[in-house]
Amino acid sequence: MQTGIGGKIALVTASTQGIGFATAQLLAEEGATVWVHGRGGDNLQHALERIRQAVPGAQLHGVAADLAADDGVARLLAQLPAVDILVNCYADTGAKMLADVSAADWDTVLHNNLAPASAISSHYLAGMLRRDWGRIVFVSSDLALRPLPFMVPYSAAKMAQLTLARGLAEMTAGSEVRVNAVLAGLTLTERTERILRGTAEGHGIPFAKFMQDYFHDPACSHVAAVGHATSLIKRLLQPEEVANLIVYLCSQLSSGTNGATLRCDGGATLTAI
Ligand SMILES: NC(=O)c1ccc[n+]([C@@H]2O[C@H](COP(=O)([O-])OP(=O)(O)OC[C@H]3O[C@@H](n4cnc5c(N)ncnc54)[C@H](OP(=O)(O)O)[C@@H]3O)[C@@H](O)[C@H]2O)c1
Repeated sequence: MQTGIGGKIALVTASTQGIGFATAQLLAEEGATVWVHGRGGDNLQHALERIRQAVPGAQLHGVAADLAADDGVARLLAQLPAVDILVNCYADTGAKMLADVSAADWDTVLHNNLAPASAISSHYLAGMLRRDWGRIVFVSSDLALRPLPFMVPYSAAKMAQLTLARGLAEMTAGSEVRVNAVLAGLTLTERTERILRGTAEGHGIPFAKFMQDYFHDPACSHVAAVGHATSLIKRLLQPEEVANLIVYLCSQLSSGTNGATLRCDGGATLTAI
């Protein structure tokens, strides 16, 4: 199948590691000119080097901008004024028990997960509509549908991202631009592994045993503390599995899908649709 991604210019926000990195690498494999994004420094250089090694001849650039900073979006857009493909991967998880979440926490988490992606998407969408081709993908989370008590503002923001994606898609009517969202399930990224290992250590349980219980004995107390996993595949997702769905939505193959939310959650969401 022809993805039609070759020769396109793609930006993946927050792509020096995790799902964003896997997406950037796959887009590079498909022949896009890929802009890898992070806050800069060694992480960014290291990510570029890893993709260069995995994809010889990859067309790659790095762009540094802190999206939690006031001037982050402006810095990003000044370095990269137009793209054909945008993947909004940056997130602020703001993990905290709901009782401890302050008004300022709500402001920060909702702002960081929505305002930069909204401004970046609106800017690039205008050019995509002028050129009559483009793809925007939001990387949301299955936690949008099943909030955990220690990540409620994040879940609310991830749900709002679906509204944002749909609102942007409404602006594409009659064009060849598509805006969609992906609900990702628990994925074995650097961040997830760090959090789960910390939780396992906190309970004095080896990581492998903790993960075994996570999927097979969700009622036990150390798993109940982090929210039980309903995954049908009974394992963490790999970043590449989520990237496969994201890159499909970035491709010509998804031309019939617009304003939609697709899932890559291993069946963790309990409903069929
Ligand atoms: N992992 C999961 O289980 C999971 C599940 C569902 C949904 N998701 C969603 O998938 C997306 C990626 O999550 P992830 O776990 O793969 O990665 P992550 O740990 O959330 O993010 C890592 C990336 O974010 C960048 N980053 C962090 N703060 C930044 C800032 N202020 N400005 C710009 N970039 C910043 C980092 O770059 P530098 O450190 O180089 O600056 C790095 O590239 C997120 O939207 C997340 O909500 C993840």
